[in-house]
Amino acid sequence: MNDADCAPSPTAVDPSVPPSTEATADPAGVPFAALDPRLLREQRTSLKWTRFAPDVLPLFVAEMDFAIAPEIQRAMIERVQASDLGYVDGAGSLAPAFTAFALDRWGWHVPDEHVHLATDVATAVVEALRVGRPAGGRLAISTPTYPGFFEMLEEVPFEVVEVPLTRDAGAGTGAPGRATSGSAVLAPPVRLDLAAIEHAFASDPGIDAFILCNPHNPHGLVHTQADLAELARLAAAYDVFVVSDEIHAPLTFPGARFTPFAPLAAEAGALSVSTLSASKGWNLAGAKCAVLVAADASANELLRRLPPETVTRVSILGLHANAAAFTAGREWLDRAIAQVQANVALLTDLVSRRLPGVRLVAPEAGYLVWLDLRGAGLGSDPYSRILHDARVALNDGAAFGAGGAGYARINVACAPQTIHAAVDRIASILPPFDGGASPETRSPNLDLEESR
Ligand SMILES: Cc1ncc(COP(=O)(O)O)c(C=O)c1O
Repeated sequence: MNDADCAPSPTAVDPSVPPSTEATADPAGVPFAALDPRLLREQRTSLKWTRFAPDVLPLFVAEMDFAIAPEIQRAMIERVQASDLGYVDGAGSLAPAFTAFALDRWGWHVPDEHVHLATDVATAVVEALRVGRPAGGRLAISTPTYPGFFEMLEEVPFEVVEVPLTRDAGAGTGAPGRATSGSAVLAPPVRLDLAAIEHAFASDPGIDAFILCNPHNPHGLVHTQADLAELARLAAAYDVFVVSDEIHAPLTFPGARFTPFAPLAAEAGALSVSTLSASKGWNLAGAKCAVLVAADASANELLRRLPPETVTRVSILGLHANAAAFTAGREWLDRAIAQVQANVALLTDLVSRRLPGVRLVAPEAGYLVWLDLRGAGLGSDPYSRILHDARVALNDGAAFGAGGAGYARINVACAPQTIHAAVDRIASILPPFDGGASPETRSPNLDLEESR
């Protein structure tokens, strides 16, 4: 890979062309009609279905409505039928399953012995920080970002330093579907602010650790290789331990290029570990299994110091589900990505026609879409207006750190009909559109051009 390979090649989305709505079933072949939220609410017990009242359409937490891959179902059922529900003693079959996937998809060579286990990615981040920087210190993170990071950081003794992403219309690696024009679409308008990161690293007191979200939640931004290489160089120069959360990487869209951070860290001499799981890509969050991957021998020495309980706290069902995902679940994954892309195109079309004043960031990875609601005329807390008046649960942008207020995140891993229903509900509470001219109905700070 070289920088030229990562140059953005935006493809404009033409809002006059209706998005593909050909599929009638989810990636597992389950008809979309069976993914009606009223039915799922009767069948599922996870947070997505229990957190809000029955009349609220839940498009918040990162869980898919799609049925899981039959190959993963079979692997889990086999373990149950064998009464194989004891403790896990190591990565076992998951190590070669993961390393083969990393090599095939991303050209990332990972020795099997560099693969360690954790209950989930959140635990992996916390435990990595505990062994990597036992004394804590100052930790930098680019915001707005996944609110869970702030919750994880309550478990470790760090002062959190938010380094806002910087605006850049040319950011990203160029998945088809990115657009730089059109009424509702913003290309990923941000990138890592490497100058501000260097400033933080070089300050006194400096920075001890950095959490990289790669790809970045909530924008679905796939960082360029050049930006990541520069981050690795800075981390090595200022002795900053980097934990790279790559949970959304398997969901990178065709045309974008995901760059694992570990090889760049190893080349630069930066201490780094990466954490991944099949939990987002294959919808297995409740199965409780993730991997922590050492970037090089010294990071591996560090991970060998993880408490033994880190391994035994992993679910054996989750381990086999992850192994099945990385080996036999690749076709299901590709169908899921295609459906997510179709759903993003559908949402883009609906937003531009039905939700005047709303803008969205076209993701390059993952099924979470970042909505700019500051121009929608819903006041300073659009998330609450949409929840209480439209009965649609999104994620409140204000929880994502600096720069998130006035935004919300929507989950599109659902049947297309669910996206139509959500847009109908939100459209019903929008004030009449006046082009953003009236301060009574629109945000007084409306500045959409600035946000591009
Ligand atoms: C960036 C990121 N990291 C971590 C998590 C949580 O992962 P896990 O359930 O494996 O702890 C999520 C969940 O959405 C996420 O988006």
